[in-house]
Amino acid sequence: MDYSSSQAEALARIAAAGDLDSIERLRVEFLGKQGSISALLKTLGGMSPEARQAEGPQIHALREAVTAALADAKAVLEAAALEAKLAAETVDLSLPAPELPRGTIHPVSQVMDELAEIFADMGFSVATGPEIEDDWHNFTALNMPESHPARAMHDTFYFPDKDGEGRDMLLRTHTSPVQIRTMLAQGAPLRIIAPGRVYRSDSDATHTPMFHQVEGLVIDKGIHLGHLKWTLETFLKAFFEREDIVLRLRPSYFPFTEPSVEVDVGFKLEGGRRVLGGSGDAPGHGWMELLGSGMVNRKVIEYGGLDPDEWQGFAFGVGVDRLAMLKYGMDDLRAFFDGDGRWLQHYGFSPLDVPTLSAGVGAVA
Ligand code: PHE
Repeated sequence: MDYSSSQAEALARIAAAGDLDSIERLRVEFLGKQGSISALLKTLGGMSPEARQAEGPQIHALREAVTAALADAKAVLEAAALEAKLAAETVDLSLPAPELPRGTIHPVSQVMDELAEIFADMGFSVATGPEIEDDWHNFTALNMPESHPARAMHDTFYFPDKDGEGRDMLLRTHTSPVQIRTMLAQGAPLRIIAPGRVYRSDSDATHTPMFHQVEGLVIDKGIHLGHLKWTLETFLKAFFEREDIVLRLRPSYFPFTEPSVEVDVGFKLEGGRRVLGGSGDAPGHGWMELLGSGMVNRKVIEYGGLDPDEWQGFAFGVGVDRLAMLKYGMDDLRAFFDGDGRWLQHYGFSPLDVPTLSAGVGAVA
């Protein structure tokens, strides 16, 4: 039998099919279980071997030709359908952008990120400690024994109960207990900053019962005051993004440092506002107290489990909120913690404005 006319007819019908549904219908008509070509294949079983030898290759060739034609036609139609879909789906660039999320990064969080970025560049890692402390870590190990007058100066919030070891529990009054915890946990050498919340019973325009400090601690061999001064100068120049930051070191007293130095930074008045930079001694300039620091007291190094004849170090503590106020120009500390959406909208930072040393740690509010 000659199948060339059936083949020609099948191929013509496939070529004429205008959509994917028609192709599928033709596939079922020719090749489906009840399809015409499937029926031809079934006749092979009933044929004599000679007839099968003659017919078999022709029927198979017919099936292959139809199968290939169906596949080609399907591919062409699919490509055309995709083409049409892409042409129909245009993006209207003139539509207004969707509203931006309203949340902002709080200036305190932003400044803490800036500090971590600057100190990471100097090889410092970030350490933390609990806000609910015991009086051993907060006072005793920092060379303030029970009767020490400095304890009274801290306006401490105490809890009514003692901890399992009979120690008084309190809200930490400074980040300095993290010095002790880090020395005990990590040994020496050390280079850490410890930012976090601290608590004192005090409240006015520049004091809130909760505020933020960042502690710095370096423990190594042969550390001296020069390292402290260089570190603070480098940090403050990077943080305030100006080269003319001038520091003045004044002798002071902290139980946990010896010697202790209070660090002042020079400012000048510009348009009635204090702007950091320049020598505070020049006419129209002044000095502003910025932070407490000093060489770590030998006793504190001992409480930290280290040998003070082998290890020396410096430490400093600075108010994060104060740094934020100075850099970004807020004047009332209480507004930091009111949760007023308008204040946050004004002073907050975009979540995408991540501080980096290359792009500048002084993000634009
Ligand atoms: N802990 C001190 C304070 O809260 C600051 C300080 C830290 C001073 C480290 C010296 C060294 O006032």
